[in-house]
Amino acid sequence: MRKATITGLGKYLPDRVMTNHDLEKIVDTTDEWIKTRTGIEKRRIAADDQATSDLAYEAAKEALADADLKAEDLDLIIVATITPDMMFPATSCIVQEKLEAKNAAAFDLGAGCSGFIYGLSTAVNFVESGMYENVLVIGAEVLSKILDWEDRGTCVLFGDGAGAAVVSAAEEGGFLATDLGADGSGADTLYQPAGGSRTPASHESIDNKGHFLKMEGTSVFKFAVKTMGKASLKVLKKAGVKKEEVNLLVPHQANTRIIDAAAKRLKLDDDQVYVNLPEYGNTSAASVPIALAEAKEKGLVNNGDKIVLVAFGAGLTWASAVLEWNDLK
Ligand code: ACO
Repeated sequence: MRKATITGLGKYLPDRVMTNHDLEKIVDTTDEWIKTRTGIEKRRIAADDQATSDLAYEAAKEALADADLKAEDLDLIIVATITPDMMFPATSCIVQEKLEAKNAAAFDLGAGCSGFIYGLSTAVNFVESGMYENVLVIGAEVLSKILDWEDRGTCVLFGDGAGAAVVSAAEEGGFLATDLGADGSGADTLYQPAGGSRTPASHESIDNKGHFLKMEGTSVFKFAVKTMGKASLKVLKKAGVKKEEVNLLVPHQANTRIIDAAAKRLKLDDDQVYVNLPEYGNTSAASVPIALAEAKEKGLVNNGDKIVLVAFGAGLTWASAVLEWNDLK
């Protein structure tokens, strides 16, 4: 059977660094509280004139160069994001134009922080079915522009960034299984209430801060702790891979306590789990591809390695993937 594998990775982080100490000057919080409750030490913040497509474009260029492909070789571009440049057109179309990827179809995917793995699963199915040869999957977010900088319960958690992967046809290895899930009963635990067709933009919606991200942290936390381990074990079972065979777990970077719980379910040592949360905070759909690209750069991803990717996010959603690294180079 025709397989699909990752042939290129890229990432982009905006230059501006905001530390926990910087946040102490904005809201009633402390470096100590943020570090002990979440593991986050700093995050990157996009410039005023940078939108999600700008970050996505930079990560995409790196991933294409890594895959040794030209933009014209792309058949499809998927951008996973909860912070599109605008409601429409899709941010993926804006990226397509910037890249001059004139042969690529393009659509956005909204599955919160699980969006990148949802995108990978979609790409794998397009490639394995024979419909496409090369699919570019990007996770990109400028969350800083939808955060309420007066709400200490959310503004300390998130950061901006983008990561990208090229998924191409392969004869062996690559993706062994992917698994997706959703539970819409949790839709109101993590959401942006206004700006859509339910509550269109109005003076009132602005006064009510309806265009900012809202989150019930404790409910999302409980959901995440339960889901990350379960989703990882499920995809391993689907792939017929034992947990002892896993070389590296690349989880969504939201909270070290959530990551530790997932690692424990898989009985992994600390050095088998990639964590960059202290540096970048939660970058939503960008977190898994940024982490995977960094892990590769650091030599932690080698041919033949079994890698598990797992995430949870707004929706609520969850997604997992297991792949045998095979970068064909
Ligand atoms: N600084 C200081 N104190 C704070 C802060 C802060 N930044 N934020 C909250 N507190 C206070 C609260 O007011 C509360 O005080 P009280 O006891 O006097 O009421 C106390 O700290 C404890 O608050 P909790 O919310 O119970 O703290 P908890 O241990 O649950 O940690 C956190 C909160 C970090 C948000 C945690 O619940 C969490 O990580 N949840 C998951 C969030 C997440 O991952 N979201 C991303 C989803 S992905 C996507 O799709 C975007």
